[in-house]
Amino acid sequence: MDKLVIKGKTPLKGEVKISGAKNAAVAILPAALLIDGICTIDNLPNISDVKLLCEIIEELGAKITWTSNNSITIDSRNLCCTNAPLELTRKFRASYYLIGALLGRCHHVQVGMPGGCKLGARPIDQHIKGFEALGATVDVGQGKITANTDKLVGTSIYMDMVSVGATINIMLASVLAEGTTIIDNAAKEPHIVDVANFLNTMGADVRGAGTDVIKINGVSKLSGNISYSVVPDQIEAGTFMLAAVASRGDLIIKNCITKHLECISAKIIEMGAHAEEIDGDAIHVWCDSKTSKANIKTSPYPGFPTDLQSQMGVVLSISDGTSIINESIWESRFQYTDELNKMGAKITAQGKTAIFEGVDNLYGAPVYATDLRAGAALIIAGVCAEGTTEIYNLEHIDRGYENIEEKFKNIGANIERVSE
Ligand code: EPU
Repeated sequence: MDKLVIKGKTPLKGEVKISGAKNAAVAILPAALLIDGICTIDNLPNISDVKLLCEIIEELGAKITWTSNNSITIDSRNLCCTNAPLELTRKFRASYYLIGALLGRCHHVQVGMPGGCKLGARPIDQHIKGFEALGATVDVGQGKITANTDKLVGTSIYMDMVSVGATINIMLASVLAEGTTIIDNAAKEPHIVDVANFLNTMGADVRGAGTDVIKINGVSKLSGNISYSVVPDQIEAGTFMLAAVASRGDLIIKNCITKHLECISAKIIEMGAHAEEIDGDAIHVWCDSKTSKANIKTSPYPGFPTDLQSQMGVVLSISDGTSIINESIWESRFQYTDELNKMGAKITAQGKTAIFEGVDNLYGAPVYATDLRAGAALIIAGVCAEGTTEIYNLEHIDRGYENIEEKFKNIGANIERVSE
């Protein structure tokens, strides 16, 4: 079992380069199965969720070649299987994108019930509603999902709630459908736009991604031999922005899209830190004094992302005064607060609300990553804390952050991965 050992308390300084977005990459890889051809994908984050997805895609008969640490080619001309390996698909959430992609191309699919971080109930009723509206029959039971259709026909689908996964999955299923599909009340996250751009590069006709109405005009064929670069990760960039603020450091965060970071910049500036955009693809964040309290409510893009809630929780736990976070997406996303309290934070979490009474210092302690973003938050806490922090359950962190200890080390953190 590996652990991260961090000796605080270090202001982070220097430059960090952001990787491609996890939540775009895990949808683009299944989307590549929609073509009977070859595509090259660059700026792919080298993380365990991506490697697992590549393993599943190879089991389906497609050929994957890593051409560098962050680039692959996928040759899906010999795709021969639409029953994805159940155990592998159960290991993470994004395996549900295989449903939309394989239903779209092959009209049949079977996957294991998707797993992923335990953030509360994670229903997929909106995905199913979309597939059924397009003409598929979907069976859920015995830990797996099976979907079949003779043909998919475009239609209007109103999403009962804003769902990233369901929006993308319906886009994947409908690009090759007959006629036009309209997704109303669609999610607007940067990775929705990125997946739509990828599909359009393959010859799809997806319009309006990034707004709450997406229109997909079905095409009869998509073309191969394309190359595409994954959008920079909004959440990784936000993680380093909040690490700069919490540690009272000074970071230049490169290879990001600053437009995607406005909700974070606005909040940290309100709290007394500084953020300045550099040429639209980098951001300078620094903080020279204790930040002041703030209230945060997570919401779909362009609101404050739930995936940065726990990292912001670290900042609030050492800010002046009493702050409140209201988590409106996931019901169990405050598990990290118990871990921060072990480090001296004063947080009371109940249901979807947590109250942070700011303290002067955090202190190193053994702590457990309860999910991916909680793990990132604990690294930030360890960097800020006095003494030594040991973080366990690294498999959560490795699912979504590429080379995280190297990136933190390069900006001054005293952090080591140790095998026990
Ligand atoms: N929901 C339903 N029914 C559905 C789908 C969603 O009730 O059919 C509810 C969920 O329970 C939740 C809300 O709608 O309360 C939003 O869920 P969404 O579908 O948007 O989440 P997701 O697609 O499962 C993705 C990211 C999450 C991120 C959320 C919200 C991926 C693989 N995962 O999940 O990322 O928190 O969107 O932005 O893209 C992470 O990266 O750490 C992570 C958890």
